[in-house]
Amino acid sequence: MKNKRIYLAPMVGRTDEHYRMFIRILSKNINLYTEMITCDTFLHTDRKSYSVKPEENNLTIQLAGSDPKKYGLCSKIIESKGYSEINLNIGCPSDKVIKGEFGACLMNSPNLVAECVSEIKNSCSLPISIKTRLGLGYEEDLTLLFELIDKTKTAGCNKYFIHARNAILNGLSPKKNRRIPKLRYDDVLKVKNKYSDIKLYLNGGLEDISEIKNNISVFDGVMIGRKIYDDPMFLRNLEREIFDDKKNITRKEVVDQYLKYAEPLSKQGISNYLLLRHLFSLYYNTSSSKKWKKYIHDIIQCDKKIMLINNFKEYIYEEEKISSYS
Ligand SMILES: Cc1cc2nc3c(=O)[nH]c(=O)nc-3n(C[C@H](O)[C@H](O)[C@H](O)COP(=O)(O)O)c2cc1C
Repeated sequence: MKNKRIYLAPMVGRTDEHYRMFIRILSKNINLYTEMITCDTFLHTDRKSYSVKPEENNLTIQLAGSDPKKYGLCSKIIESKGYSEINLNIGCPSDKVIKGEFGACLMNSPNLVAECVSEIKNSCSLPISIKTRLGLGYEEDLTLLFELIDKTKTAGCNKYFIHARNAILNGLSPKKNRRIPKLRYDDVLKVKNKYSDIKLYLNGGLEDISEIKNNISVFDGVMIGRKIYDDPMFLRNLEREIFDDKKNITRKEVVDQYLKYAEPLSKQGISNYLLLRHLFSLYYNTSSSKKWKKYIHDIIQCDKKIMLINNFKEYIYEEEKISSYS
């Protein structure tokens, strides 16, 4: 299974640079993603100056927009900054996205998406992928998705991440859109069977190691979002079960390594909130979870020194080393 790929799902407000460093400590093998960045934000803010850190190897940047020329402009810069792939967001259902005519509503405009792909292809040599849904609205029909794949494949995209649900564009919040539309893995399999010349990655609702193992043997890989965010130590499980990495890193070791990264930034004035907010779930589902959250909360609220995390009394050393996490 070592050649199979697992991707961290792009998540706005979550998969920022600090979170990616935290995740990389827990997993050397997972492929990383930025959060969605609109082409305009990329071009007109300091986002364009960000260079990928060595630890963030295999980092895909996810862009959103509907202007092919802007994709082209972004791509030239992106290639020089060390990203390994450019992903187009054709799946996001938020209000902002609907008004700006990008994200999931572009499933209705496969020719335009294909133009965006062509423009990226002409502007850089990075691989291109698309993250999308099974369809729009309540119809369980794959016509839109097939058209999108047909058109964009011809334009130069051969890699697709499918969130195995429809997007409901009117009436459901993004959060509900990640829960209410039915998960349809079988339909993603139909896509896999129809196209032998594309790479296909399953996304949506994957939380269980045996389910992930099963799907990884069927698809080219999987993409996981909320399970990893809610339970970061789950990555240790993935490392062991999928990538045969038996290291079993402890929470204390994770924190030690993270502090080596975070302390200098804290001294430079980056807020403890930004540096620590993604660590709240480190003790997910353990008896120390509440105390840990309170401990981190106090460090953030009272603006204490970040190194105080070292003094957390309940680091579970032995228990973690001995028992196998599941
Ligand atoms: C807080 C949050 C933010 C998200 N932001 C993005 C995003 O920026 N781009 C995107 O394509 N999907 C985004 N998603 C959707 C995820 O990438 C993923 O498709 C979805 O959560 C289903 O996968 P999961 O069940 O493994 O979480 C977001 C999801 C969450 C929970």
